[in-house]
Amino acid sequence: MMNTSDIVTLREDDREFSELKVIIKRKIGFNCEQYKQAHLKRRLAVRLRATQSKSYKEYAEILLKNLAEEKQLKETLTVNVTELFRNPETYEAFRRAELPELIKSRGENRTLKVWSAGCSNGEEPYSIAIMLAEYLGIAARRYNISIMGTDIDEDSLSKAELGIFHPKALEKISKERLERFFNKKDNNYEVTDEIHRMVTFKNHDMISGPKLSGFDIIFCRNVTIYFEQKLQEKLYFDFYNALKDGGYFVMGKTETLIGQSSRLFKHVDLKERIYQKKVN
Ligand SMILES: C[S@@+](CC[C@H](N)C(=O)[O-])C[C@H]1O[C@@H](n2cnc3c(N)ncnc32)[C@H](O)[C@@H]1O
Repeated sequence: MMNTSDIVTLREDDREFSELKVIIKRKIGFNCEQYKQAHLKRRLAVRLRATQSKSYKEYAEILLKNLAEEKQLKETLTVNVTELFRNPETYEAFRRAELPELIKSRGENRTLKVWSAGCSNGEEPYSIAIMLAEYLGIAARRYNISIMGTDIDEDSLSKAELGIFHPKALEKISKERLERFFNKKDNNYEVTDEIHRMVTFKNHDMISGPKLSGFDIIFCRNVTIYFEQKLQEKLYFDFYNALKDGGYFVMGKTETLIGQSSRLFKHVDLKERIYQKKVN
């Protein structure tokens, strides 16, 4: 265990930093250039400290030789913090105001396609599934609901696929929700089949991956905050194109539409960062 006095001082070297980014891209497919550089340096500093590397060059050498370090670095770079019903007021607002509108506008076409972009361990897509099941009640059976969670982090996706949560992760969940949507499994809780069936997971890089389309709702929360502004704007255009007319886009509480992307959406609930695709 290191204490602060042991923490190695980092020799900042632009050339070494650039070279390390190339290696990271090649080894773990992480597109460093597109992330806020200050954020990237902060995350890299965590691994430099852990490996007692005194420079980016020294760290690059470790990364090139050590498979375990590749895994550690990927975990550090992809900030996976999430929780079930994160910002519950956003789900509440969406369920109260936008969901009834959306269901009404889809009429007899009982298909709902949702994308949770940057879904981490799956808490967000499962929360969306529970929100839909609660709103639709028994009518949910007559709907074809597909919620796709995507992420670049394979480990997170593997956890997400299981749909199993530690009791600690469920502390804020009401007793009613717990009983209705989770089954006890050993010392943990597993989402019910009804919820599991609605959700699928896929490895997808929203920066360089293929463009997706045909969604009624897109949640992309607490992901773009780490990206450079130009990229954020480009991604908001991508989300616009990925939505069906009148579809909804939900962002994180600290994220905002920027530049021209702001004109693409109607700001339906500014506080909860809920936007609707404008129809041309
Ligand atoms: C902080 S978590 C957000 C999880 C969830 N959306 C929430 O708000 O609770 C950010 C997630 O974005 C993922 N991520 C980062 N860059 C990505 C990219 N280019 N494409 C897809 N996912 C990405 C990370 O792996 C991480 O799991």
